[in-house]
This record gives sequence, C-alpha cells and structure tokens, in this order.
Amino acid sequence: MASSSVFSTTLFLSLLFTSFFLPSSASNFHQSTDITWGDGRAQILNNGDLLSLSLDKASGSGFQSRNEYLYGKIDMQIKLVPGNSAGTVTAYYLRSEGSTWDEIDFEFLGNLSGDPYTVHTNVFSQGKGNREQQFHLWFDPTADFHTYSILWNPQRIVFYVDGTPIREFKNMESIGVAFPKNQPMRLQSSLWNADDWATRGGLIKTDWTQAPFTASYRNFNENACIWSSGQSSCGSNSSPAASDKPWYSQELDTDSEGKLKWVQKNYMIYNYCTDVNRFPQGLPPECNGTA
Ligand SMILES: *[C@@H]1O[C@H](CO)[C@@H](O)[C@H](O)[C@H]1NC(C)=O
Repeated sequence: MASSSVFSTTLFLSLLFTSFFLPSSASNFHQSTDITWGDGRAQILNNGDLLSLSLDKASGSGFQSRNEYLYGKIDMQIKLVPGNSAGTVTAYYLRSEGSTWDEIDFEFLGNLSGDPYTVHTNVFSQGKGNREQQFHLWFDPTADFHTYSILWNPQRIVFYVDGTPIREFKNMESIGVAFPKNQPMRLQSSLWNADDWATRGGLIKTDWTQAPFTASYRNFNENACIWSSGQSSCGSNSSPAASDKPWYSQELDTDSEGKLKWVQKNYMIYNYCTDVNRFPQGLPPECNGTA
C-alpha cells in the first residue's frame, strides 16, 4: 500500500511536471517549416529540434513556416552568427503576399567581433513601410539562444526580446493609419549577405575567410489563428475565446510599459518618429504621441 501511494505520487508529479514545465508546445521543424532556398545550406537537425542557416560566398539560405497566420504570437529562440559577422543579415519576419503586402520585421545586422549587433525593426501595412526603429541589445546574442517574439493581435503589434517589449505599434486606423488585419502572413527567415548597406552603412564588408556563417533556431512556437483555405482556425468570430488565446487581447501592463521605456531610453539607436530631416513635410501620423 505504501509503495502504491509512492508510485501514484510519483506519477502525479511527473504528469504535473510534463504538462506545466516542459516546453512541449515547441513545434518540430520537420513538420512546421519548409526550407525555401540555399541548396543544402539550411538544415534541420536533432530530429527536428534544431534548424540552422548558413551563408557562404556563393549563397545564403532560408526557411518559412508551413502555416499562415491571421493574428498570433510567434516565438523563436535564435542564436546569431558569432565572431566577425559584419555584412551578414539574419532576417526573421512575418509577411503576406502581393504588391500591397503586410510585414512585421526583425532583422539582425551583424558586426565586427566585439561590436554590437543592430536589431532593425519595421512594420509594413498594405505595402507601406518606412517605419524603422533600431536597437542594440543588453546581452551578446551570439553567446546563447534568446527568444524573439512577435505579438500581432487586432489592437497592436509588439516586438519582444526575452519577453521584454522593445517596440509597440498600435492599431491607429482611427487616425487613418492602415493596420495589418486581413492578409494572412507566414513566418520567413533567412541569412544573407548585405555588405552593401548593413554594417556602418556598408563601410564594413563581409570577411569571407570566416565563412560559412551560421545562425541556429530552436523552440519555434506558433500560438496563432491559422489561416487555411480562406478560413481562420479561430472561426469567424471577431474575438475568439480569451481563455485559450490570451495573446489575442494582450496589451502592455504597467510593468511591460516600464520595460519598454527602459529599452527605448537605453538601447534604441534609431527611431523614424524622431527623424525630422527625413520627413520634411511632417512626421507620419502614427508618430504623434504613440508609435
Ligand atoms: C557596429 O558597431 C558600431 C560601433 O559600436 C555601432 O555604431 C553600430 O551600430 C554597430 N552595428 C552595425 C550594424 O553597424
């Protein structure tokens, strides 16, 4: 009797552990992604737990999600190209198709060894972008995996690094700013050479003696409304049940607002909303106050 109760306690604890503490929702790259280009330079490893992209002088490489999303919270752990990565760009973004596409971009611009990566962000709605914000990071993104997330719901787009919001783009349709809301987007990622512009405006060229350059990916989570054959997995209801999709109505609480301000004050290196020389006719409307 004692042994059976020990057994059931152990079983109970192990079930509890499994259901609450393991990152069991991370998807298998074999099932969730397709390699789109790079002729063998993109590889899925460790039974689908790891994906690596590489770049050499002949080509870069890339992959995309099988699913398309119409709203979601997408998380990925990425370990960026280490060492002298100047000239390389690792792009990680959501994008729809067509000439009036929507897009939500993270781009990681490499640098000389010891110099900081630049995290470049942009939001396109109906083909219009020009909304760049750039940041440095508060850690070395090449030493380990870190989580980069895109939250996209009907009210806002938020870029997160390790759960810390670095940028919020609110839905400001009420003042005439288009917001991505009816074109499904797919996750895309690629590693490519951009030494004509990426590092110090193109002054620093890619050092091909360091090739191949490699970036690694794991723990891809797609908490999203999946779009398929013209229908959303969340149904036609405009606000799916909040209990199983907290991201759908997620906003920044006071703590997150504080973190966002901390990042913007200490790590933001470019903000289109303060670039008055670039917009002599006046800053874009979303810049008034909120963007
Ligand atoms: C590279 O390092 C320099 C010097 O710290 C910095 O100004 C720049 O923002 C960094 N990033 C890129 C992509 O050039």
